[in-house]
Amino acid sequence: MHNIKGVRGAPDILPQKSSRWQRIEEVARAALRRYGYAEIRTPVFERTEVFIRGIGEGTDIVEKEMYTFTDQGQESLTLRPEATAPVVRAYLEHQMAAQSALVKVYYLGPMFRRERPQSGRYRQFHQIGVEAIGSHQPAVDAEVIDLLWKLMVEEFRIPGLELRLNSIGDVACRPEIRERILRYMRDRASELCTDCQGRLGRNPLRILDCKQEGCQRLVAGAPKPLESLCEACADHFAQVRSLLDLLKIPYTVDDRLVRGLDYYTRTAFEVVNPRLGAQNALAGGGRYDGLIEVMGGPPTPGIGFAIGLERVMASIPAEADAQTSLDGVYVATIGQEAHRTGMLLLQELRRRGVRGLIDLEGRSLKGQMRQANKDRVRYCLILGEDELAKGHATLRDMAKAEEQSVPLDHVVARLLELEGERTG
Ligand code: HAM
Repeated sequence: MHNIKGVRGAPDILPQKSSRWQRIEEVARAALRRYGYAEIRTPVFERTEVFIRGIGEGTDIVEKEMYTFTDQGQESLTLRPEATAPVVRAYLEHQMAAQSALVKVYYLGPMFRRERPQSGRYRQFHQIGVEAIGSHQPAVDAEVIDLLWKLMVEEFRIPGLELRLNSIGDVACRPEIRERILRYMRDRASELCTDCQGRLGRNPLRILDCKQEGCQRLVAGAPKPLESLCEACADHFAQVRSLLDLLKIPYTVDDRLVRGLDYYTRTAFEVVNPRLGAQNALAGGGRYDGLIEVMGGPPTPGIGFAIGLERVMASIPAEADAQTSLDGVYVATIGQEAHRTGMLLLQELRRRGVRGLIDLEGRSLKGQMRQANKDRVRYCLILGEDELAKGHATLRDMAKAEEQSVPLDHVVARLLELEGERTG
């Protein structure tokens, strides 16, 4: 019999790596709270329509990457490839606009896209994202971008990142932008890659974003969205930039930046790690002032971003994982009676919030001490037969390599006292 393997592109996160994930999740949650975001948890699957309408029929995601299935009730359901459309679905379904004019929510969890797996590109991956729904104000754009930048640089401590910013217009000026690019590209269609030839009909803006060399050459001379913004969009963009300057967020304007989902209007941005190779976008986002209406709601502006956590993990230097400091206590015992006493002590210590470990495999004392080192505990409590008879235990401080004898009925209090000194 052969072993069953996991699905390609859907990696396991093993215990050696999960502490890094937990650290990132914890610092992110704390920062999001400071910026006034509350968590929303939507299901990992939705009616397929949510994504077809929300993301757009001609996009790569909807066209080729969705995990869609028909359930026993003949309903078409899809594993979420992203969470903006689901959040808007929930926002409308639960009339969240009634609670507050500006709704600020964040989410954290797995997304699913059937892409060709490669380094940095998975079929199940994780995002932390935010959505701020209800305001046109450039101050929201600035706060959202500031939050993204602070998360990446100050909280996750990723070096060498770049923030790219663009404006891609709105309902007023997009048709003109589209038309100008279309006209330019149509005359040169034979020089485009096959993907972009397809994009000509569906979404000519996406050609600006193509990484193929031939297309890039063409794009260099192509009309850019920034050149044809209407006055309102140009003014909005200028205000966003001025606020980012005020907050000292180091962005560069990238007039070729367009995003892969149809709902974007005006501000679009990405955080890129130039050292990561092909899949170097760590996070992306933008405004979606038309999406709520497309999803059946009243005209309502919105903006948000999502961070790809696998790419964040790949960008964190190994030093950042510097071994966690010594913590807790290992109870090492000799003989059955000592082990029973040890289990009782441990029960009390754990109840009082101390991380506590004991041998469960019948190891020798030497083996137990080796394990205590591996488990990176600060203290080792040694219960030998002789000591036990005298009602004592030996408490060893693993960092200072010092030992003291402690009466058994003082052990818990003594350990709590030491822990208190250390952390207080
Ligand atoms: P997105 O650009 O499709 O935007 O995805 C955001 C980030 O998720 C990417 O920058 C990347 O780091 C990560 N990502 C995407 N696909 C994969 C994959 N196959 N494997 C690994 N990581 C991946 C959105 O999803 C929008 N919903 C963001 C947003 C929120 N816009 C407004 N609000």
